[in-house]
Amino acid sequence: MFPGPLVEANAGDRIVVKVTNKLASGTAIHWHGMYQNGTNWMDGTTGITQCPIPPGQSFTYNFTVSNQWGTFWWHAHASSQYVDGIVGPLVVHSPEEPQLGQYDEDIIMMISDYYHTDSKTLVSWYLSPESEGSEPVPDNGLINGRNPFDCSKDSSAHFPTGNRCDPGAPHAHFSFQKGLRYRIRIINSGAFAAFHFSIDNHRLTVIEVDGVDVQPVEVERIPIHVAQRYSALVDANQTVGNYWVRADMNTNCFNDPNPALDPSVRAIIHYDGAPLTTTVHGADKEEGMAGYVNKTSWEPLRGDATLFQAHQGVSTFDNSQLMVTFNRSMTVELVIINYDEGDHPFHLHGHTFYVLAIGSGGYMFDLSPPLQTKNPLRRDTVTIPAFGHAVIRFVTDNPGIWAFHCHIHWHMEAGLLVQFLSQPDAIQAFNIPEELKAMCK
Ligand code: C2O
Repeated sequence: MFPGPLVEANAGDRIVVKVTNKLASGTAIHWHGMYQNGTNWMDGTTGITQCPIPPGQSFTYNFTVSNQWGTFWWHAHASSQYVDGIVGPLVVHSPEEPQLGQYDEDIIMMISDYYHTDSKTLVSWYLSPESEGSEPVPDNGLINGRNPFDCSKDSSAHFPTGNRCDPGAPHAHFSFQKGLRYRIRIINSGAFAAFHFSIDNHRLTVIEVDGVDVQPVEVERIPIHVAQRYSALVDANQTVGNYWVRADMNTNCFNDPNPALDPSVRAIIHYDGAPLTTTVHGADKEEGMAGYVNKTSWEPLRGDATLFQAHQGVSTFDNSQLMVTFNRSMTVELVIINYDEGDHPFHLHGHTFYVLAIGSGGYMFDLSPPLQTKNPLRRDTVTIPAFGHAVIRFVTDNPGIWAFHCHIHWHMEAGLLVQFLSQPDAIQAFNIPEELKAMCK
């Protein structure tokens, strides 16, 4: 099924998922946003925390959810498989949630860009000189796997696929019952595009950002970049009818317009008792491409994982691994400067971080405005604006090797990734399952 099944748990629960690989290539599943405290080897990141599960084999992920809750997701973290559909939602509940009892029902809306071409073809095009560094432009956008597409335009796409096109593909539908309050969990599980999310005639009260509760803020629309999540409370307080859910794709960063793409992606909220009609309220170069962090481009290890090397006591890594080591638990402040003309949503595995500054240009501690240290936002994926910066702060209190990377899939393939190695001594004491190491052979 697409998107994949919901994994739902309570904080402190043990999650056990047996993954059987029926693909032709190796895979691994990452539980995006899970701290994996004490179980770094269950983080599911190929080349870093494991070797891929070979075709035809199974591996059982088995980990305890830390004392964290909110909206997460899972996805393949092996080559570009998640772009082809290996994604699903992951929701953690807790009796400590401040909004508990203040809403009646939970609704998940996974929004994503969508490519009609398989990701392998797209990656090799993107990394070749032919692309001149412009990312593949999506053909469509989806909400929970659905959205119509104008089949007459398919042949004008950059990579005609010859796949069957269904001219009558439906929108996703969600039911509302007047008088109830809904918690809508919005997940951008796409590869490239950011969206603006809104629901016609309804206000959104944001209560959660990337698995972190926030002071409620009422807004009309929410900008959401790749891998980010928000929860918003929505009152079903409008006239019984049908209303558009809108995910407007931000196409500013698309170098090449795709004539087949309609960036206005939609779904329908249907109030119980409204006619099931279609009337909806509201208006209608020479080198190949690479990504660099401090002049180096990450290349995944083949046949090994950096975690296993650190477990053996290795402390110096090849430059291509972009390893930054923290010998003990400490507070780290990171300045990320974006020299590119597009925004980059950076995700840190295994942690949430404070966002202390986001702005244009570089950041200079003496000259730039002071860091915002009073009640800063905490999250796991931050958008670094084009030609701008972000300053984040986190504590290296989680032993393991954690990827920090741009979640735009094309950029990750281009090597826009750094590894943080926390507490090497604790890693050497890890009890890594033999079964996991055996997959490197
Ligand atoms: Cu959604 Cu490296 O993760």
